[in-house]
Amino acid sequence: MSIRTGVVNGVATIEIARPEKKNALTMAMYQAMADAIEGAGRDPAVRAILITGQPGVFTSGNDLEDFMQRPPQGGDSPVYRFMLALLACEKPVVAAVTGAAVGIGTTLLLHCDLVYVSDEARLAMPFVSLGLVPEYASSTIVPALMGHVRAAEKLLLGDPFTAAEAVEVGIANAVLPAGEVLPHARRVAERFNGLPPAAVRESKKLMRGPQLEALRATIAAEGEVFGQRLRSPEAQEAFRAFFEKRKPDFSQFS
Ligand code: COA
Repeated sequence: MSIRTGVVNGVATIEIARPEKKNALTMAMYQAMADAIEGAGRDPAVRAILITGQPGVFTSGNDLEDFMQRPPQGGDSPVYRFMLALLACEKPVVAAVTGAAVGIGTTLLLHCDLVYVSDEARLAMPFVSLGLVPEYASSTIVPALMGHVRAAEKLLLGDPFTAAEAVEVGIANAVLPAGEVLPHARRVAERFNGLPPAAVRESKKLMRGPQLEALRATIAAEGEVFGQRLRSPEAQEAFRAFFEKRKPDFSQFS
């Protein structure tokens, strides 16, 4: 199992731990993360959830081998279960972005409440470069955060960006030295032990609730196109190129 979970001092930690594959997320890992979020939501001992990765890498996003061999089918696939569990989570979620955050590694941050990023981290949403389209409501949230033209750099060109830019555009709260990001995020998560839990939950509901239905609809609409794109010759060429460690060649496509 490449997801480690545990509750310490009121904080349910979800640690992505598959460093040999840069923390790429498989279906089993999404399933484990969805279970952990839902379990933490039900556990009265849990005041906050902390999502973290490994030194140097938060997650390189969806496992591309899985995308090629076992593309997600429909709304009850593990990746959608995970996305909807995080979206619906009533307790505060803190992210410690310990390094590279690619694809859903960046888009999941849009659904956390407090985000701390290592100064060495690069964030990227290279969906188009992979023949895909943005997911997890990033197609609407990212332009709303930073305006269309900057969003086009990130979502159409797939340009990576720094932790400092993530803070500037409102994706993250603060940049920290690599070794301090996890302890800092943990301290922030533990602050919820000193706050009234129902007031925290009700406040998060008021902050997030009005957008929830629209976000679910966006995720479903993106998911439909994403599913088609996964099977497209463009995406197959991009995935093959990644594993063959070469540049993809899209010149034959129109
Ligand atoms: N899915 C499957 N395997 C992945 C992966 C992914 N998303 N990301 C990395 N890996 C694997 C590599 O294939 C490699 O495996 P190997 O040792 O068997 O060859 C191993 O992890 C190390 O990756 P590598 O690319 O050599 O590490 P790096 O430090 O040079 O680069 C990243 C790190 C994260 C920048 C780079 O791995 C990357 O861009 N990954 C793909 C990200 C991506 O496109 N995600 C999907 C978004 S939708």
